[in-house]
Order: sequence, then structure tokens, then C-alpha cells
Amino acid sequence: MLSGGASPHAIIRVTSGSNVPDTITITDDRTGKTVTVPITDGVFPASAIRDLDPALYIYDPAYMQTAACKSAITYLDGDAGILRHRGYPIEQLAEHSTYLEVAYLLLNGELPDAVQLDRWKTDVTQHTFIHENMRKRFVDGFHYDAHPMGMFISAVAALGTFYNDAKNIDDKASRDKQILRLVAKMPTLASMCHRFSVGLPFVYPDNDLSFPGNFLNMMWKIGDYQVDPRLERAMDVLFILHADHEQNCGTTAMRVVGSSHADPYTSCSAAASALGGPLHGGANEGVVRMLAEIGHMDNVPAFIEEVKSGKGGRLMGFGHRVYKNYDPRATIIKKAAYDVFEVTGKNPLLDIALKLEETALNDEYFISRKLYPNVDFYSGLIYQAMGFPISMFTVLFAIPRTVGWLAHWQELLADKEQKISRPRQWYSGADARDYVPMASR
Ligand SMILES: CC(C)(COP(=O)(O)OP(=O)(O)OC[C@H]1O[C@@H](n2cnc3c(N)ncnc32)[C@H](O)[C@@H]1OP(=O)(O)O)[C@@H](O)C(=O)NCCC(=O)NCCS
Repeated sequence: MLSGGASPHAIIRVTSGSNVPDTITITDDRTGKTVTVPITDGVFPASAIRDLDPALYIYDPAYMQTAACKSAITYLDGDAGILRHRGYPIEQLAEHSTYLEVAYLLLNGELPDAVQLDRWKTDVTQHTFIHENMRKRFVDGFHYDAHPMGMFISAVAALGTFYNDAKNIDDKASRDKQILRLVAKMPTLASMCHRFSVGLPFVYPDNDLSFPGNFLNMMWKIGDYQVDPRLERAMDVLFILHADHEQNCGTTAMRVVGSSHADPYTSCSAAASALGGPLHGGANEGVVRMLAEIGHMDNVPAFIEEVKSGKGGRLMGFGHRVYKNYDPRATIIKKAAYDVFEVTGKNPLLDIALKLEETALNDEYFISRKLYPNVDFYSGLIYQAMGFPISMFTVLFAIPRTVGWLAHWQELLADKEQKISRPRQWYSGADARDYVPMASR
């Protein structure tokens, strides 16, 4: 039965008006009532269903066919393999821009001029420190082998308790301040979680370094460590590529939690929790584990057969809910991988990955399902070559994605059409029945 009491036998026949190309007409065959609504950019309002019958709902598990918001931040055409932020192609941003410039673009809608960029960089640089109690009291409370992503998710939520003004989400000045703090402090939290998990002392932010350079320094500094500029640039490109990807699972979590007017730290923590799942940001960890398990190029055909038979797992780093073409970020990452390997030496798993990609791209199973490499297929290899432990991979993803979450959070709060998120359900449980006393069960 549909929640709200609609008939279980309701039939919805949706017909697209052949002579009226920009409208859709929906007829309720139970009543003969008809509504006609406009189709704009391939979307029609679900309020049409409400107009037809307020007790009628659309069943759409995983929101496969549902647009839950309007957004002007990121454009994605999965069939054509196109990704643009505020209109700018990801390829151009990855080649010419920096992560902080892209962050500004995502948050403000336009590229900054020289003065704006300089001020933004200075502001971020001056907000990288965290309260000493975060490190000394909060982080020290974790078990010695705590997973860095678990620590990170908790640390992001805990950070909000240091800023009582964070709950003032209706105040633009307060929102901007929290956004700045979150963007700036993520690398500090991330490196803190790593160093704790391997027992190394914390390294304070260095205001003389760039955003990616400071992060690498906080991660790896022992003695006279110097950031290699090629790795610094590769890190920045990886940050750009992960900055936003419209309504994915983590961003949707951000919007859903943010819609309750929770503070942005809590919302970002929820988004990071979603990101940590193996089908989302955790996939690159899965890729590296999978490649290590395959062990040798010669084992690739047998592995592919196992995936196809359904007896093995999935081919991690392949397939995407939206991309039914090569993920444009995967192309850029593949190139960045070679740049990194020039410094670090080739990751021995690369040959297995290349063979796997070639085999899958020529196999009918993957071709017919439009399964192509996604952003995670090569990113794990780069991270591993740069020395990051597998357990840090999703944390690395969360650092730049924070700005995407925050751009969507801002947009959500400014959107007069949005309310607290509250989907309906299709109840499939027992009908009403009387409580049975224990003695009679
Ligand atoms: C990303 C992902 C969750 C998208 O899933 P989805 O849009 O729900 O697609 P589905 O699970 O409906 O899969 C469609 C078909 O392709 C198959 N498929 C999808 N991804 C596959 C993969 N990586 N390996 C093998 N088969 C795969 C499914 O088995 C299904 O086949 P079927 O029609 O015979 O049942 C999925 O492709 C996946 O699990 N990929 C591996 C994890 C990964 O790399 N995630 C990172 C995303 S950036």
C-alpha cells in the first residue's frame, strides 16, 4: 500500500504529447483525470502527480529518475563524458587552474580576479590551524589503530563544537566564516589523523607553503623534508578533480542533513560518512586491494571471467551511476599518474591495471553495460606511489570534496523551493494486528 492510503491498484500511464514536444500529459486511469505540465531541460515537476492525486507517490529507489534540486554548480553529461564546473570544462581547470581557485569558483560562481584570489588564498592560509584541544584531547582519545577515515569523520563533527557561531546558518558572515574554516582545516585534520594512526608527532601548518604543499608537508615532514614541486602539482590536480561531482551520495547526504538546518560541520561529517563507503569514495581502496589480489598481468583474464560470472566481486574502479562513457577525470588522472611515477618510480600494480582496463574495454560484458574506468581506477595507484597508506585514500578524497559539499550547502540554503528533506515510503509491512501477550506467542 502507498503511504497516504492510495489504492494499491493505481495505474499511472504517462504519455508524452507527440504534437506538444515540450509538455508531458499524465492520466490517472482510475479517475480519468489528466494533468499536462511543461518539460524543461528534460525535467518535469513532480507536483504534477500531486495535482493529479495528493495521495499518489512515485516509487524511485536510489533516486534513479529523480532530480531533488536545481543546481548551477556542476554540469555532468554521463553519456558524453562531460564534466564542467560553473561552465568551465574539467580538462581546462585541471590544466590551468589550482584547487583554491576552483574552490573559489565553486563557491562564488565566477573565477576570481587577481585581488580576489590573493585574498582568498591568504584567508585560507590563515585558517589552517586547529585548536590545540582538538589534537591533544579529542584525537588522543582514539584507539592506537583507529582507521583514519573514522577519526576524520568524527573530527569534522567535533570541530564544530569549537565554533558556537556555526549554528547561525542564516547569517551570511557566519556561513562564510565556517566555509573558510572547513576548507582551510581539512588538510590539517587529515594529516593529524594519519600521523596519529602511525604514531608520528603532529606537524603544524606552514603558512609559507601552498595549499597542497602544506598538506604534503604536514603528512610527511620528518627532519629536512622538502615538498617536491611535481608532487605538489599532482596533489593539486587530484584535489581539483575531486572538488565536486554534483548530486552523488556524499553531496546528497550533505543536502539532506543540511536541509534540517544542522550546522555545516555536522553536515560535512555526514557527507564524509557517505563518502567513506566502498561503493563511493572507498572504491580506490578497493581497486588497489583488487590489483594486489590479482597479483600478475597473466591472472587478469581469469579475474575478468570471475567478475562476469558474478562469483567474484565487481571490477572496482569501473562503472558509474551517471557516466556511461569514459569518466573525463579518469583520463586526466591516468596522465597525472605518469607524472607522479617519474618522481616516485612506477607503481608495480600499474601494469596489471593497464591490462585490466584493456581487457575490460574489449569485453562484451563491459561494453554492453557501458562500464568504463571511473575516477577511482587510477587515483589509488598515484596515492600509493606517493606513499599514502590505503586507509588514507578516502580521507584524501574528502579534503577537496569539502568545498563541493559547502557550495551545495550554500545553494540549498538560498533555494526558496527547498524544505527539510523527507521522502515518502511504499509501506510493505504487516497490516494492522493486535498485540499478542508473551504467554500466547
Ligand atoms: C558505481 C556503481 C555502484 C554504479 O552502480 P549502478 O549505477 O547502480 O549500476 P548497477 O549496479 O545497476 O549495474 C548495472 C549492471 O552493470 C554491472 N556492473 C556495474 N558495475 C560493475 C563493475 N564494476 N563490475 C562488474 N559489473 C558491474 C552490474 O552487475 C549490472 O549488471 P546486470 O545488469 O547484469 O545485473 C557500480 O558500477 C559499481 O559498483 N562499481 C564498482 C565500484 C566503484 O568503482 N565505485 C566508484 C564510483 S565513482
